[in-house]
Amino acid sequence: MSHRTDLSPETLAVHAGVDKHEFLPAVPPIFQTSTFAFKSAEHGAALFAGEGKGYIYSRMGNPTTEAAEMSVAALEGGAKALACGSGMAAIHTILATLLRQGDHMVCSEAVYGPTCTLIGKIMPKWGIESTMVDTSNFEAVKEAMRPNTKVVYIETPCNPTLVIADLEAIGNLAHDRGALVVVDNTFMSPLLQQPFRWGADYVIHSLTKFLNGHADVVGGMIVVKDEAQYPPVRRMLNHLGGVLPPFESFLVHRGIKTLSVRMAKHCQNAQKIAEHLEAHPHIEWVLYPGLKSHPQYELAKKQMSGSGAVISFGLKGGLEAGRAMMNAVKLCLLAVSLGGVETLIQHPASMTHASMGAEARRQAHITDGLVRISVGIESVDDIIADLDQALEEAAAQTMSVERERHPAVT
Ligand SMILES: Cc1ncc(COP(=O)(O)O)c(C=O)c1O
Repeated sequence: MSHRTDLSPETLAVHAGVDKHEFLPAVPPIFQTSTFAFKSAEHGAALFAGEGKGYIYSRMGNPTTEAAEMSVAALEGGAKALACGSGMAAIHTILATLLRQGDHMVCSEAVYGPTCTLIGKIMPKWGIESTMVDTSNFEAVKEAMRPNTKVVYIETPCNPTLVIADLEAIGNLAHDRGALVVVDNTFMSPLLQQPFRWGADYVIHSLTKFLNGHADVVGGMIVVKDEAQYPPVRRMLNHLGGVLPPFESFLVHRGIKTLSVRMAKHCQNAQKIAEHLEAHPHIEWVLYPGLKSHPQYELAKKQMSGSGAVISFGLKGGLEAGRAMMNAVKLCLLAVSLGGVETLIQHPASMTHASMGAEARRQAHITDGLVRISVGIESVDDIIADLDQALEEAAAQTMSVERERHPAVT
């Protein structure tokens, strides 16, 4: 079923994918089944031949999963979507569909750590090469393109450096050179950025983050722009097998209904916190797309309708002070992931981006002192109070360590 294109994202978040069942429940039921009976041998054979209505086996399609897929496809303005067992399964599945031995891809250098490992260390074993570049530098992307470049893979804003790639310019470049553009839109959600509007060919998500929003599901999604792109991705997912089970699909679909109010609150809180941190005496630097000091502030305003929940910053005392701060938070959770209702704080160099290795982190400007926070939807005053007390505690600890090292310091 195709979705309506005349409705706003807030409305689609509530309604898209809901009208699937003959009794028209407000909430689609959970089809918690691995397999589906055929009405006859002929019906079964027809379904396997891709004809007729019905379902076969939940790895090949399930109505609850389809409802969540329709919802995300509608929000992204794509034709169809495929739910996967994790964001990484979505990335693996789309790259396996689009690339073969001898191909080359260009990739943002500061992507999520396991994405970098998949593309930079695992895919070369299959004969697929890549060049990691700063995709906020258009000339660098141009230079990295080769005659056999088939995919340009972009995270924007990048995780965790929050640099922003010009989706329209890179889309035009890639298409001129015969390459396809895949955008990981996890950090923005379709409420804040719709990559298809700027020329992307495929959008992927870690559903684990904003779309589900409640830190209780691991999932991923591949959205295709046109109907014709769907069958090869469906076939690849059927064979790789990393699908999203029905109950998780139900939770994701439920989470999406509140996406617009959650994103508004995430952005509102994060803007206040970023401004507060930028003015804080113990903070060295802050990166947040909503700050005028962000290097691509104008580009962010062009292609994003909000600045998101993720802020990266460095403390004046560097890594040591950052660690002390993370150990001192009382309300914020010291945990990886992002996009849930609760505020999370973490250290990419030793956590989410540890698997990349020190050299890849250095190249991607992921410094050891970088602390990342995913701002939740709690009271912003409570979050700021917690960060402030943790920063004071970190400053006091760093000072006492300095005193021990250099007794003359007072
Ligand atoms: C931007 C981004 N893409 C992809 C992923 C991978 O998603 P998952 O953990 O659901 O496999 C993550 C996870 O943190 C992420 O931050």
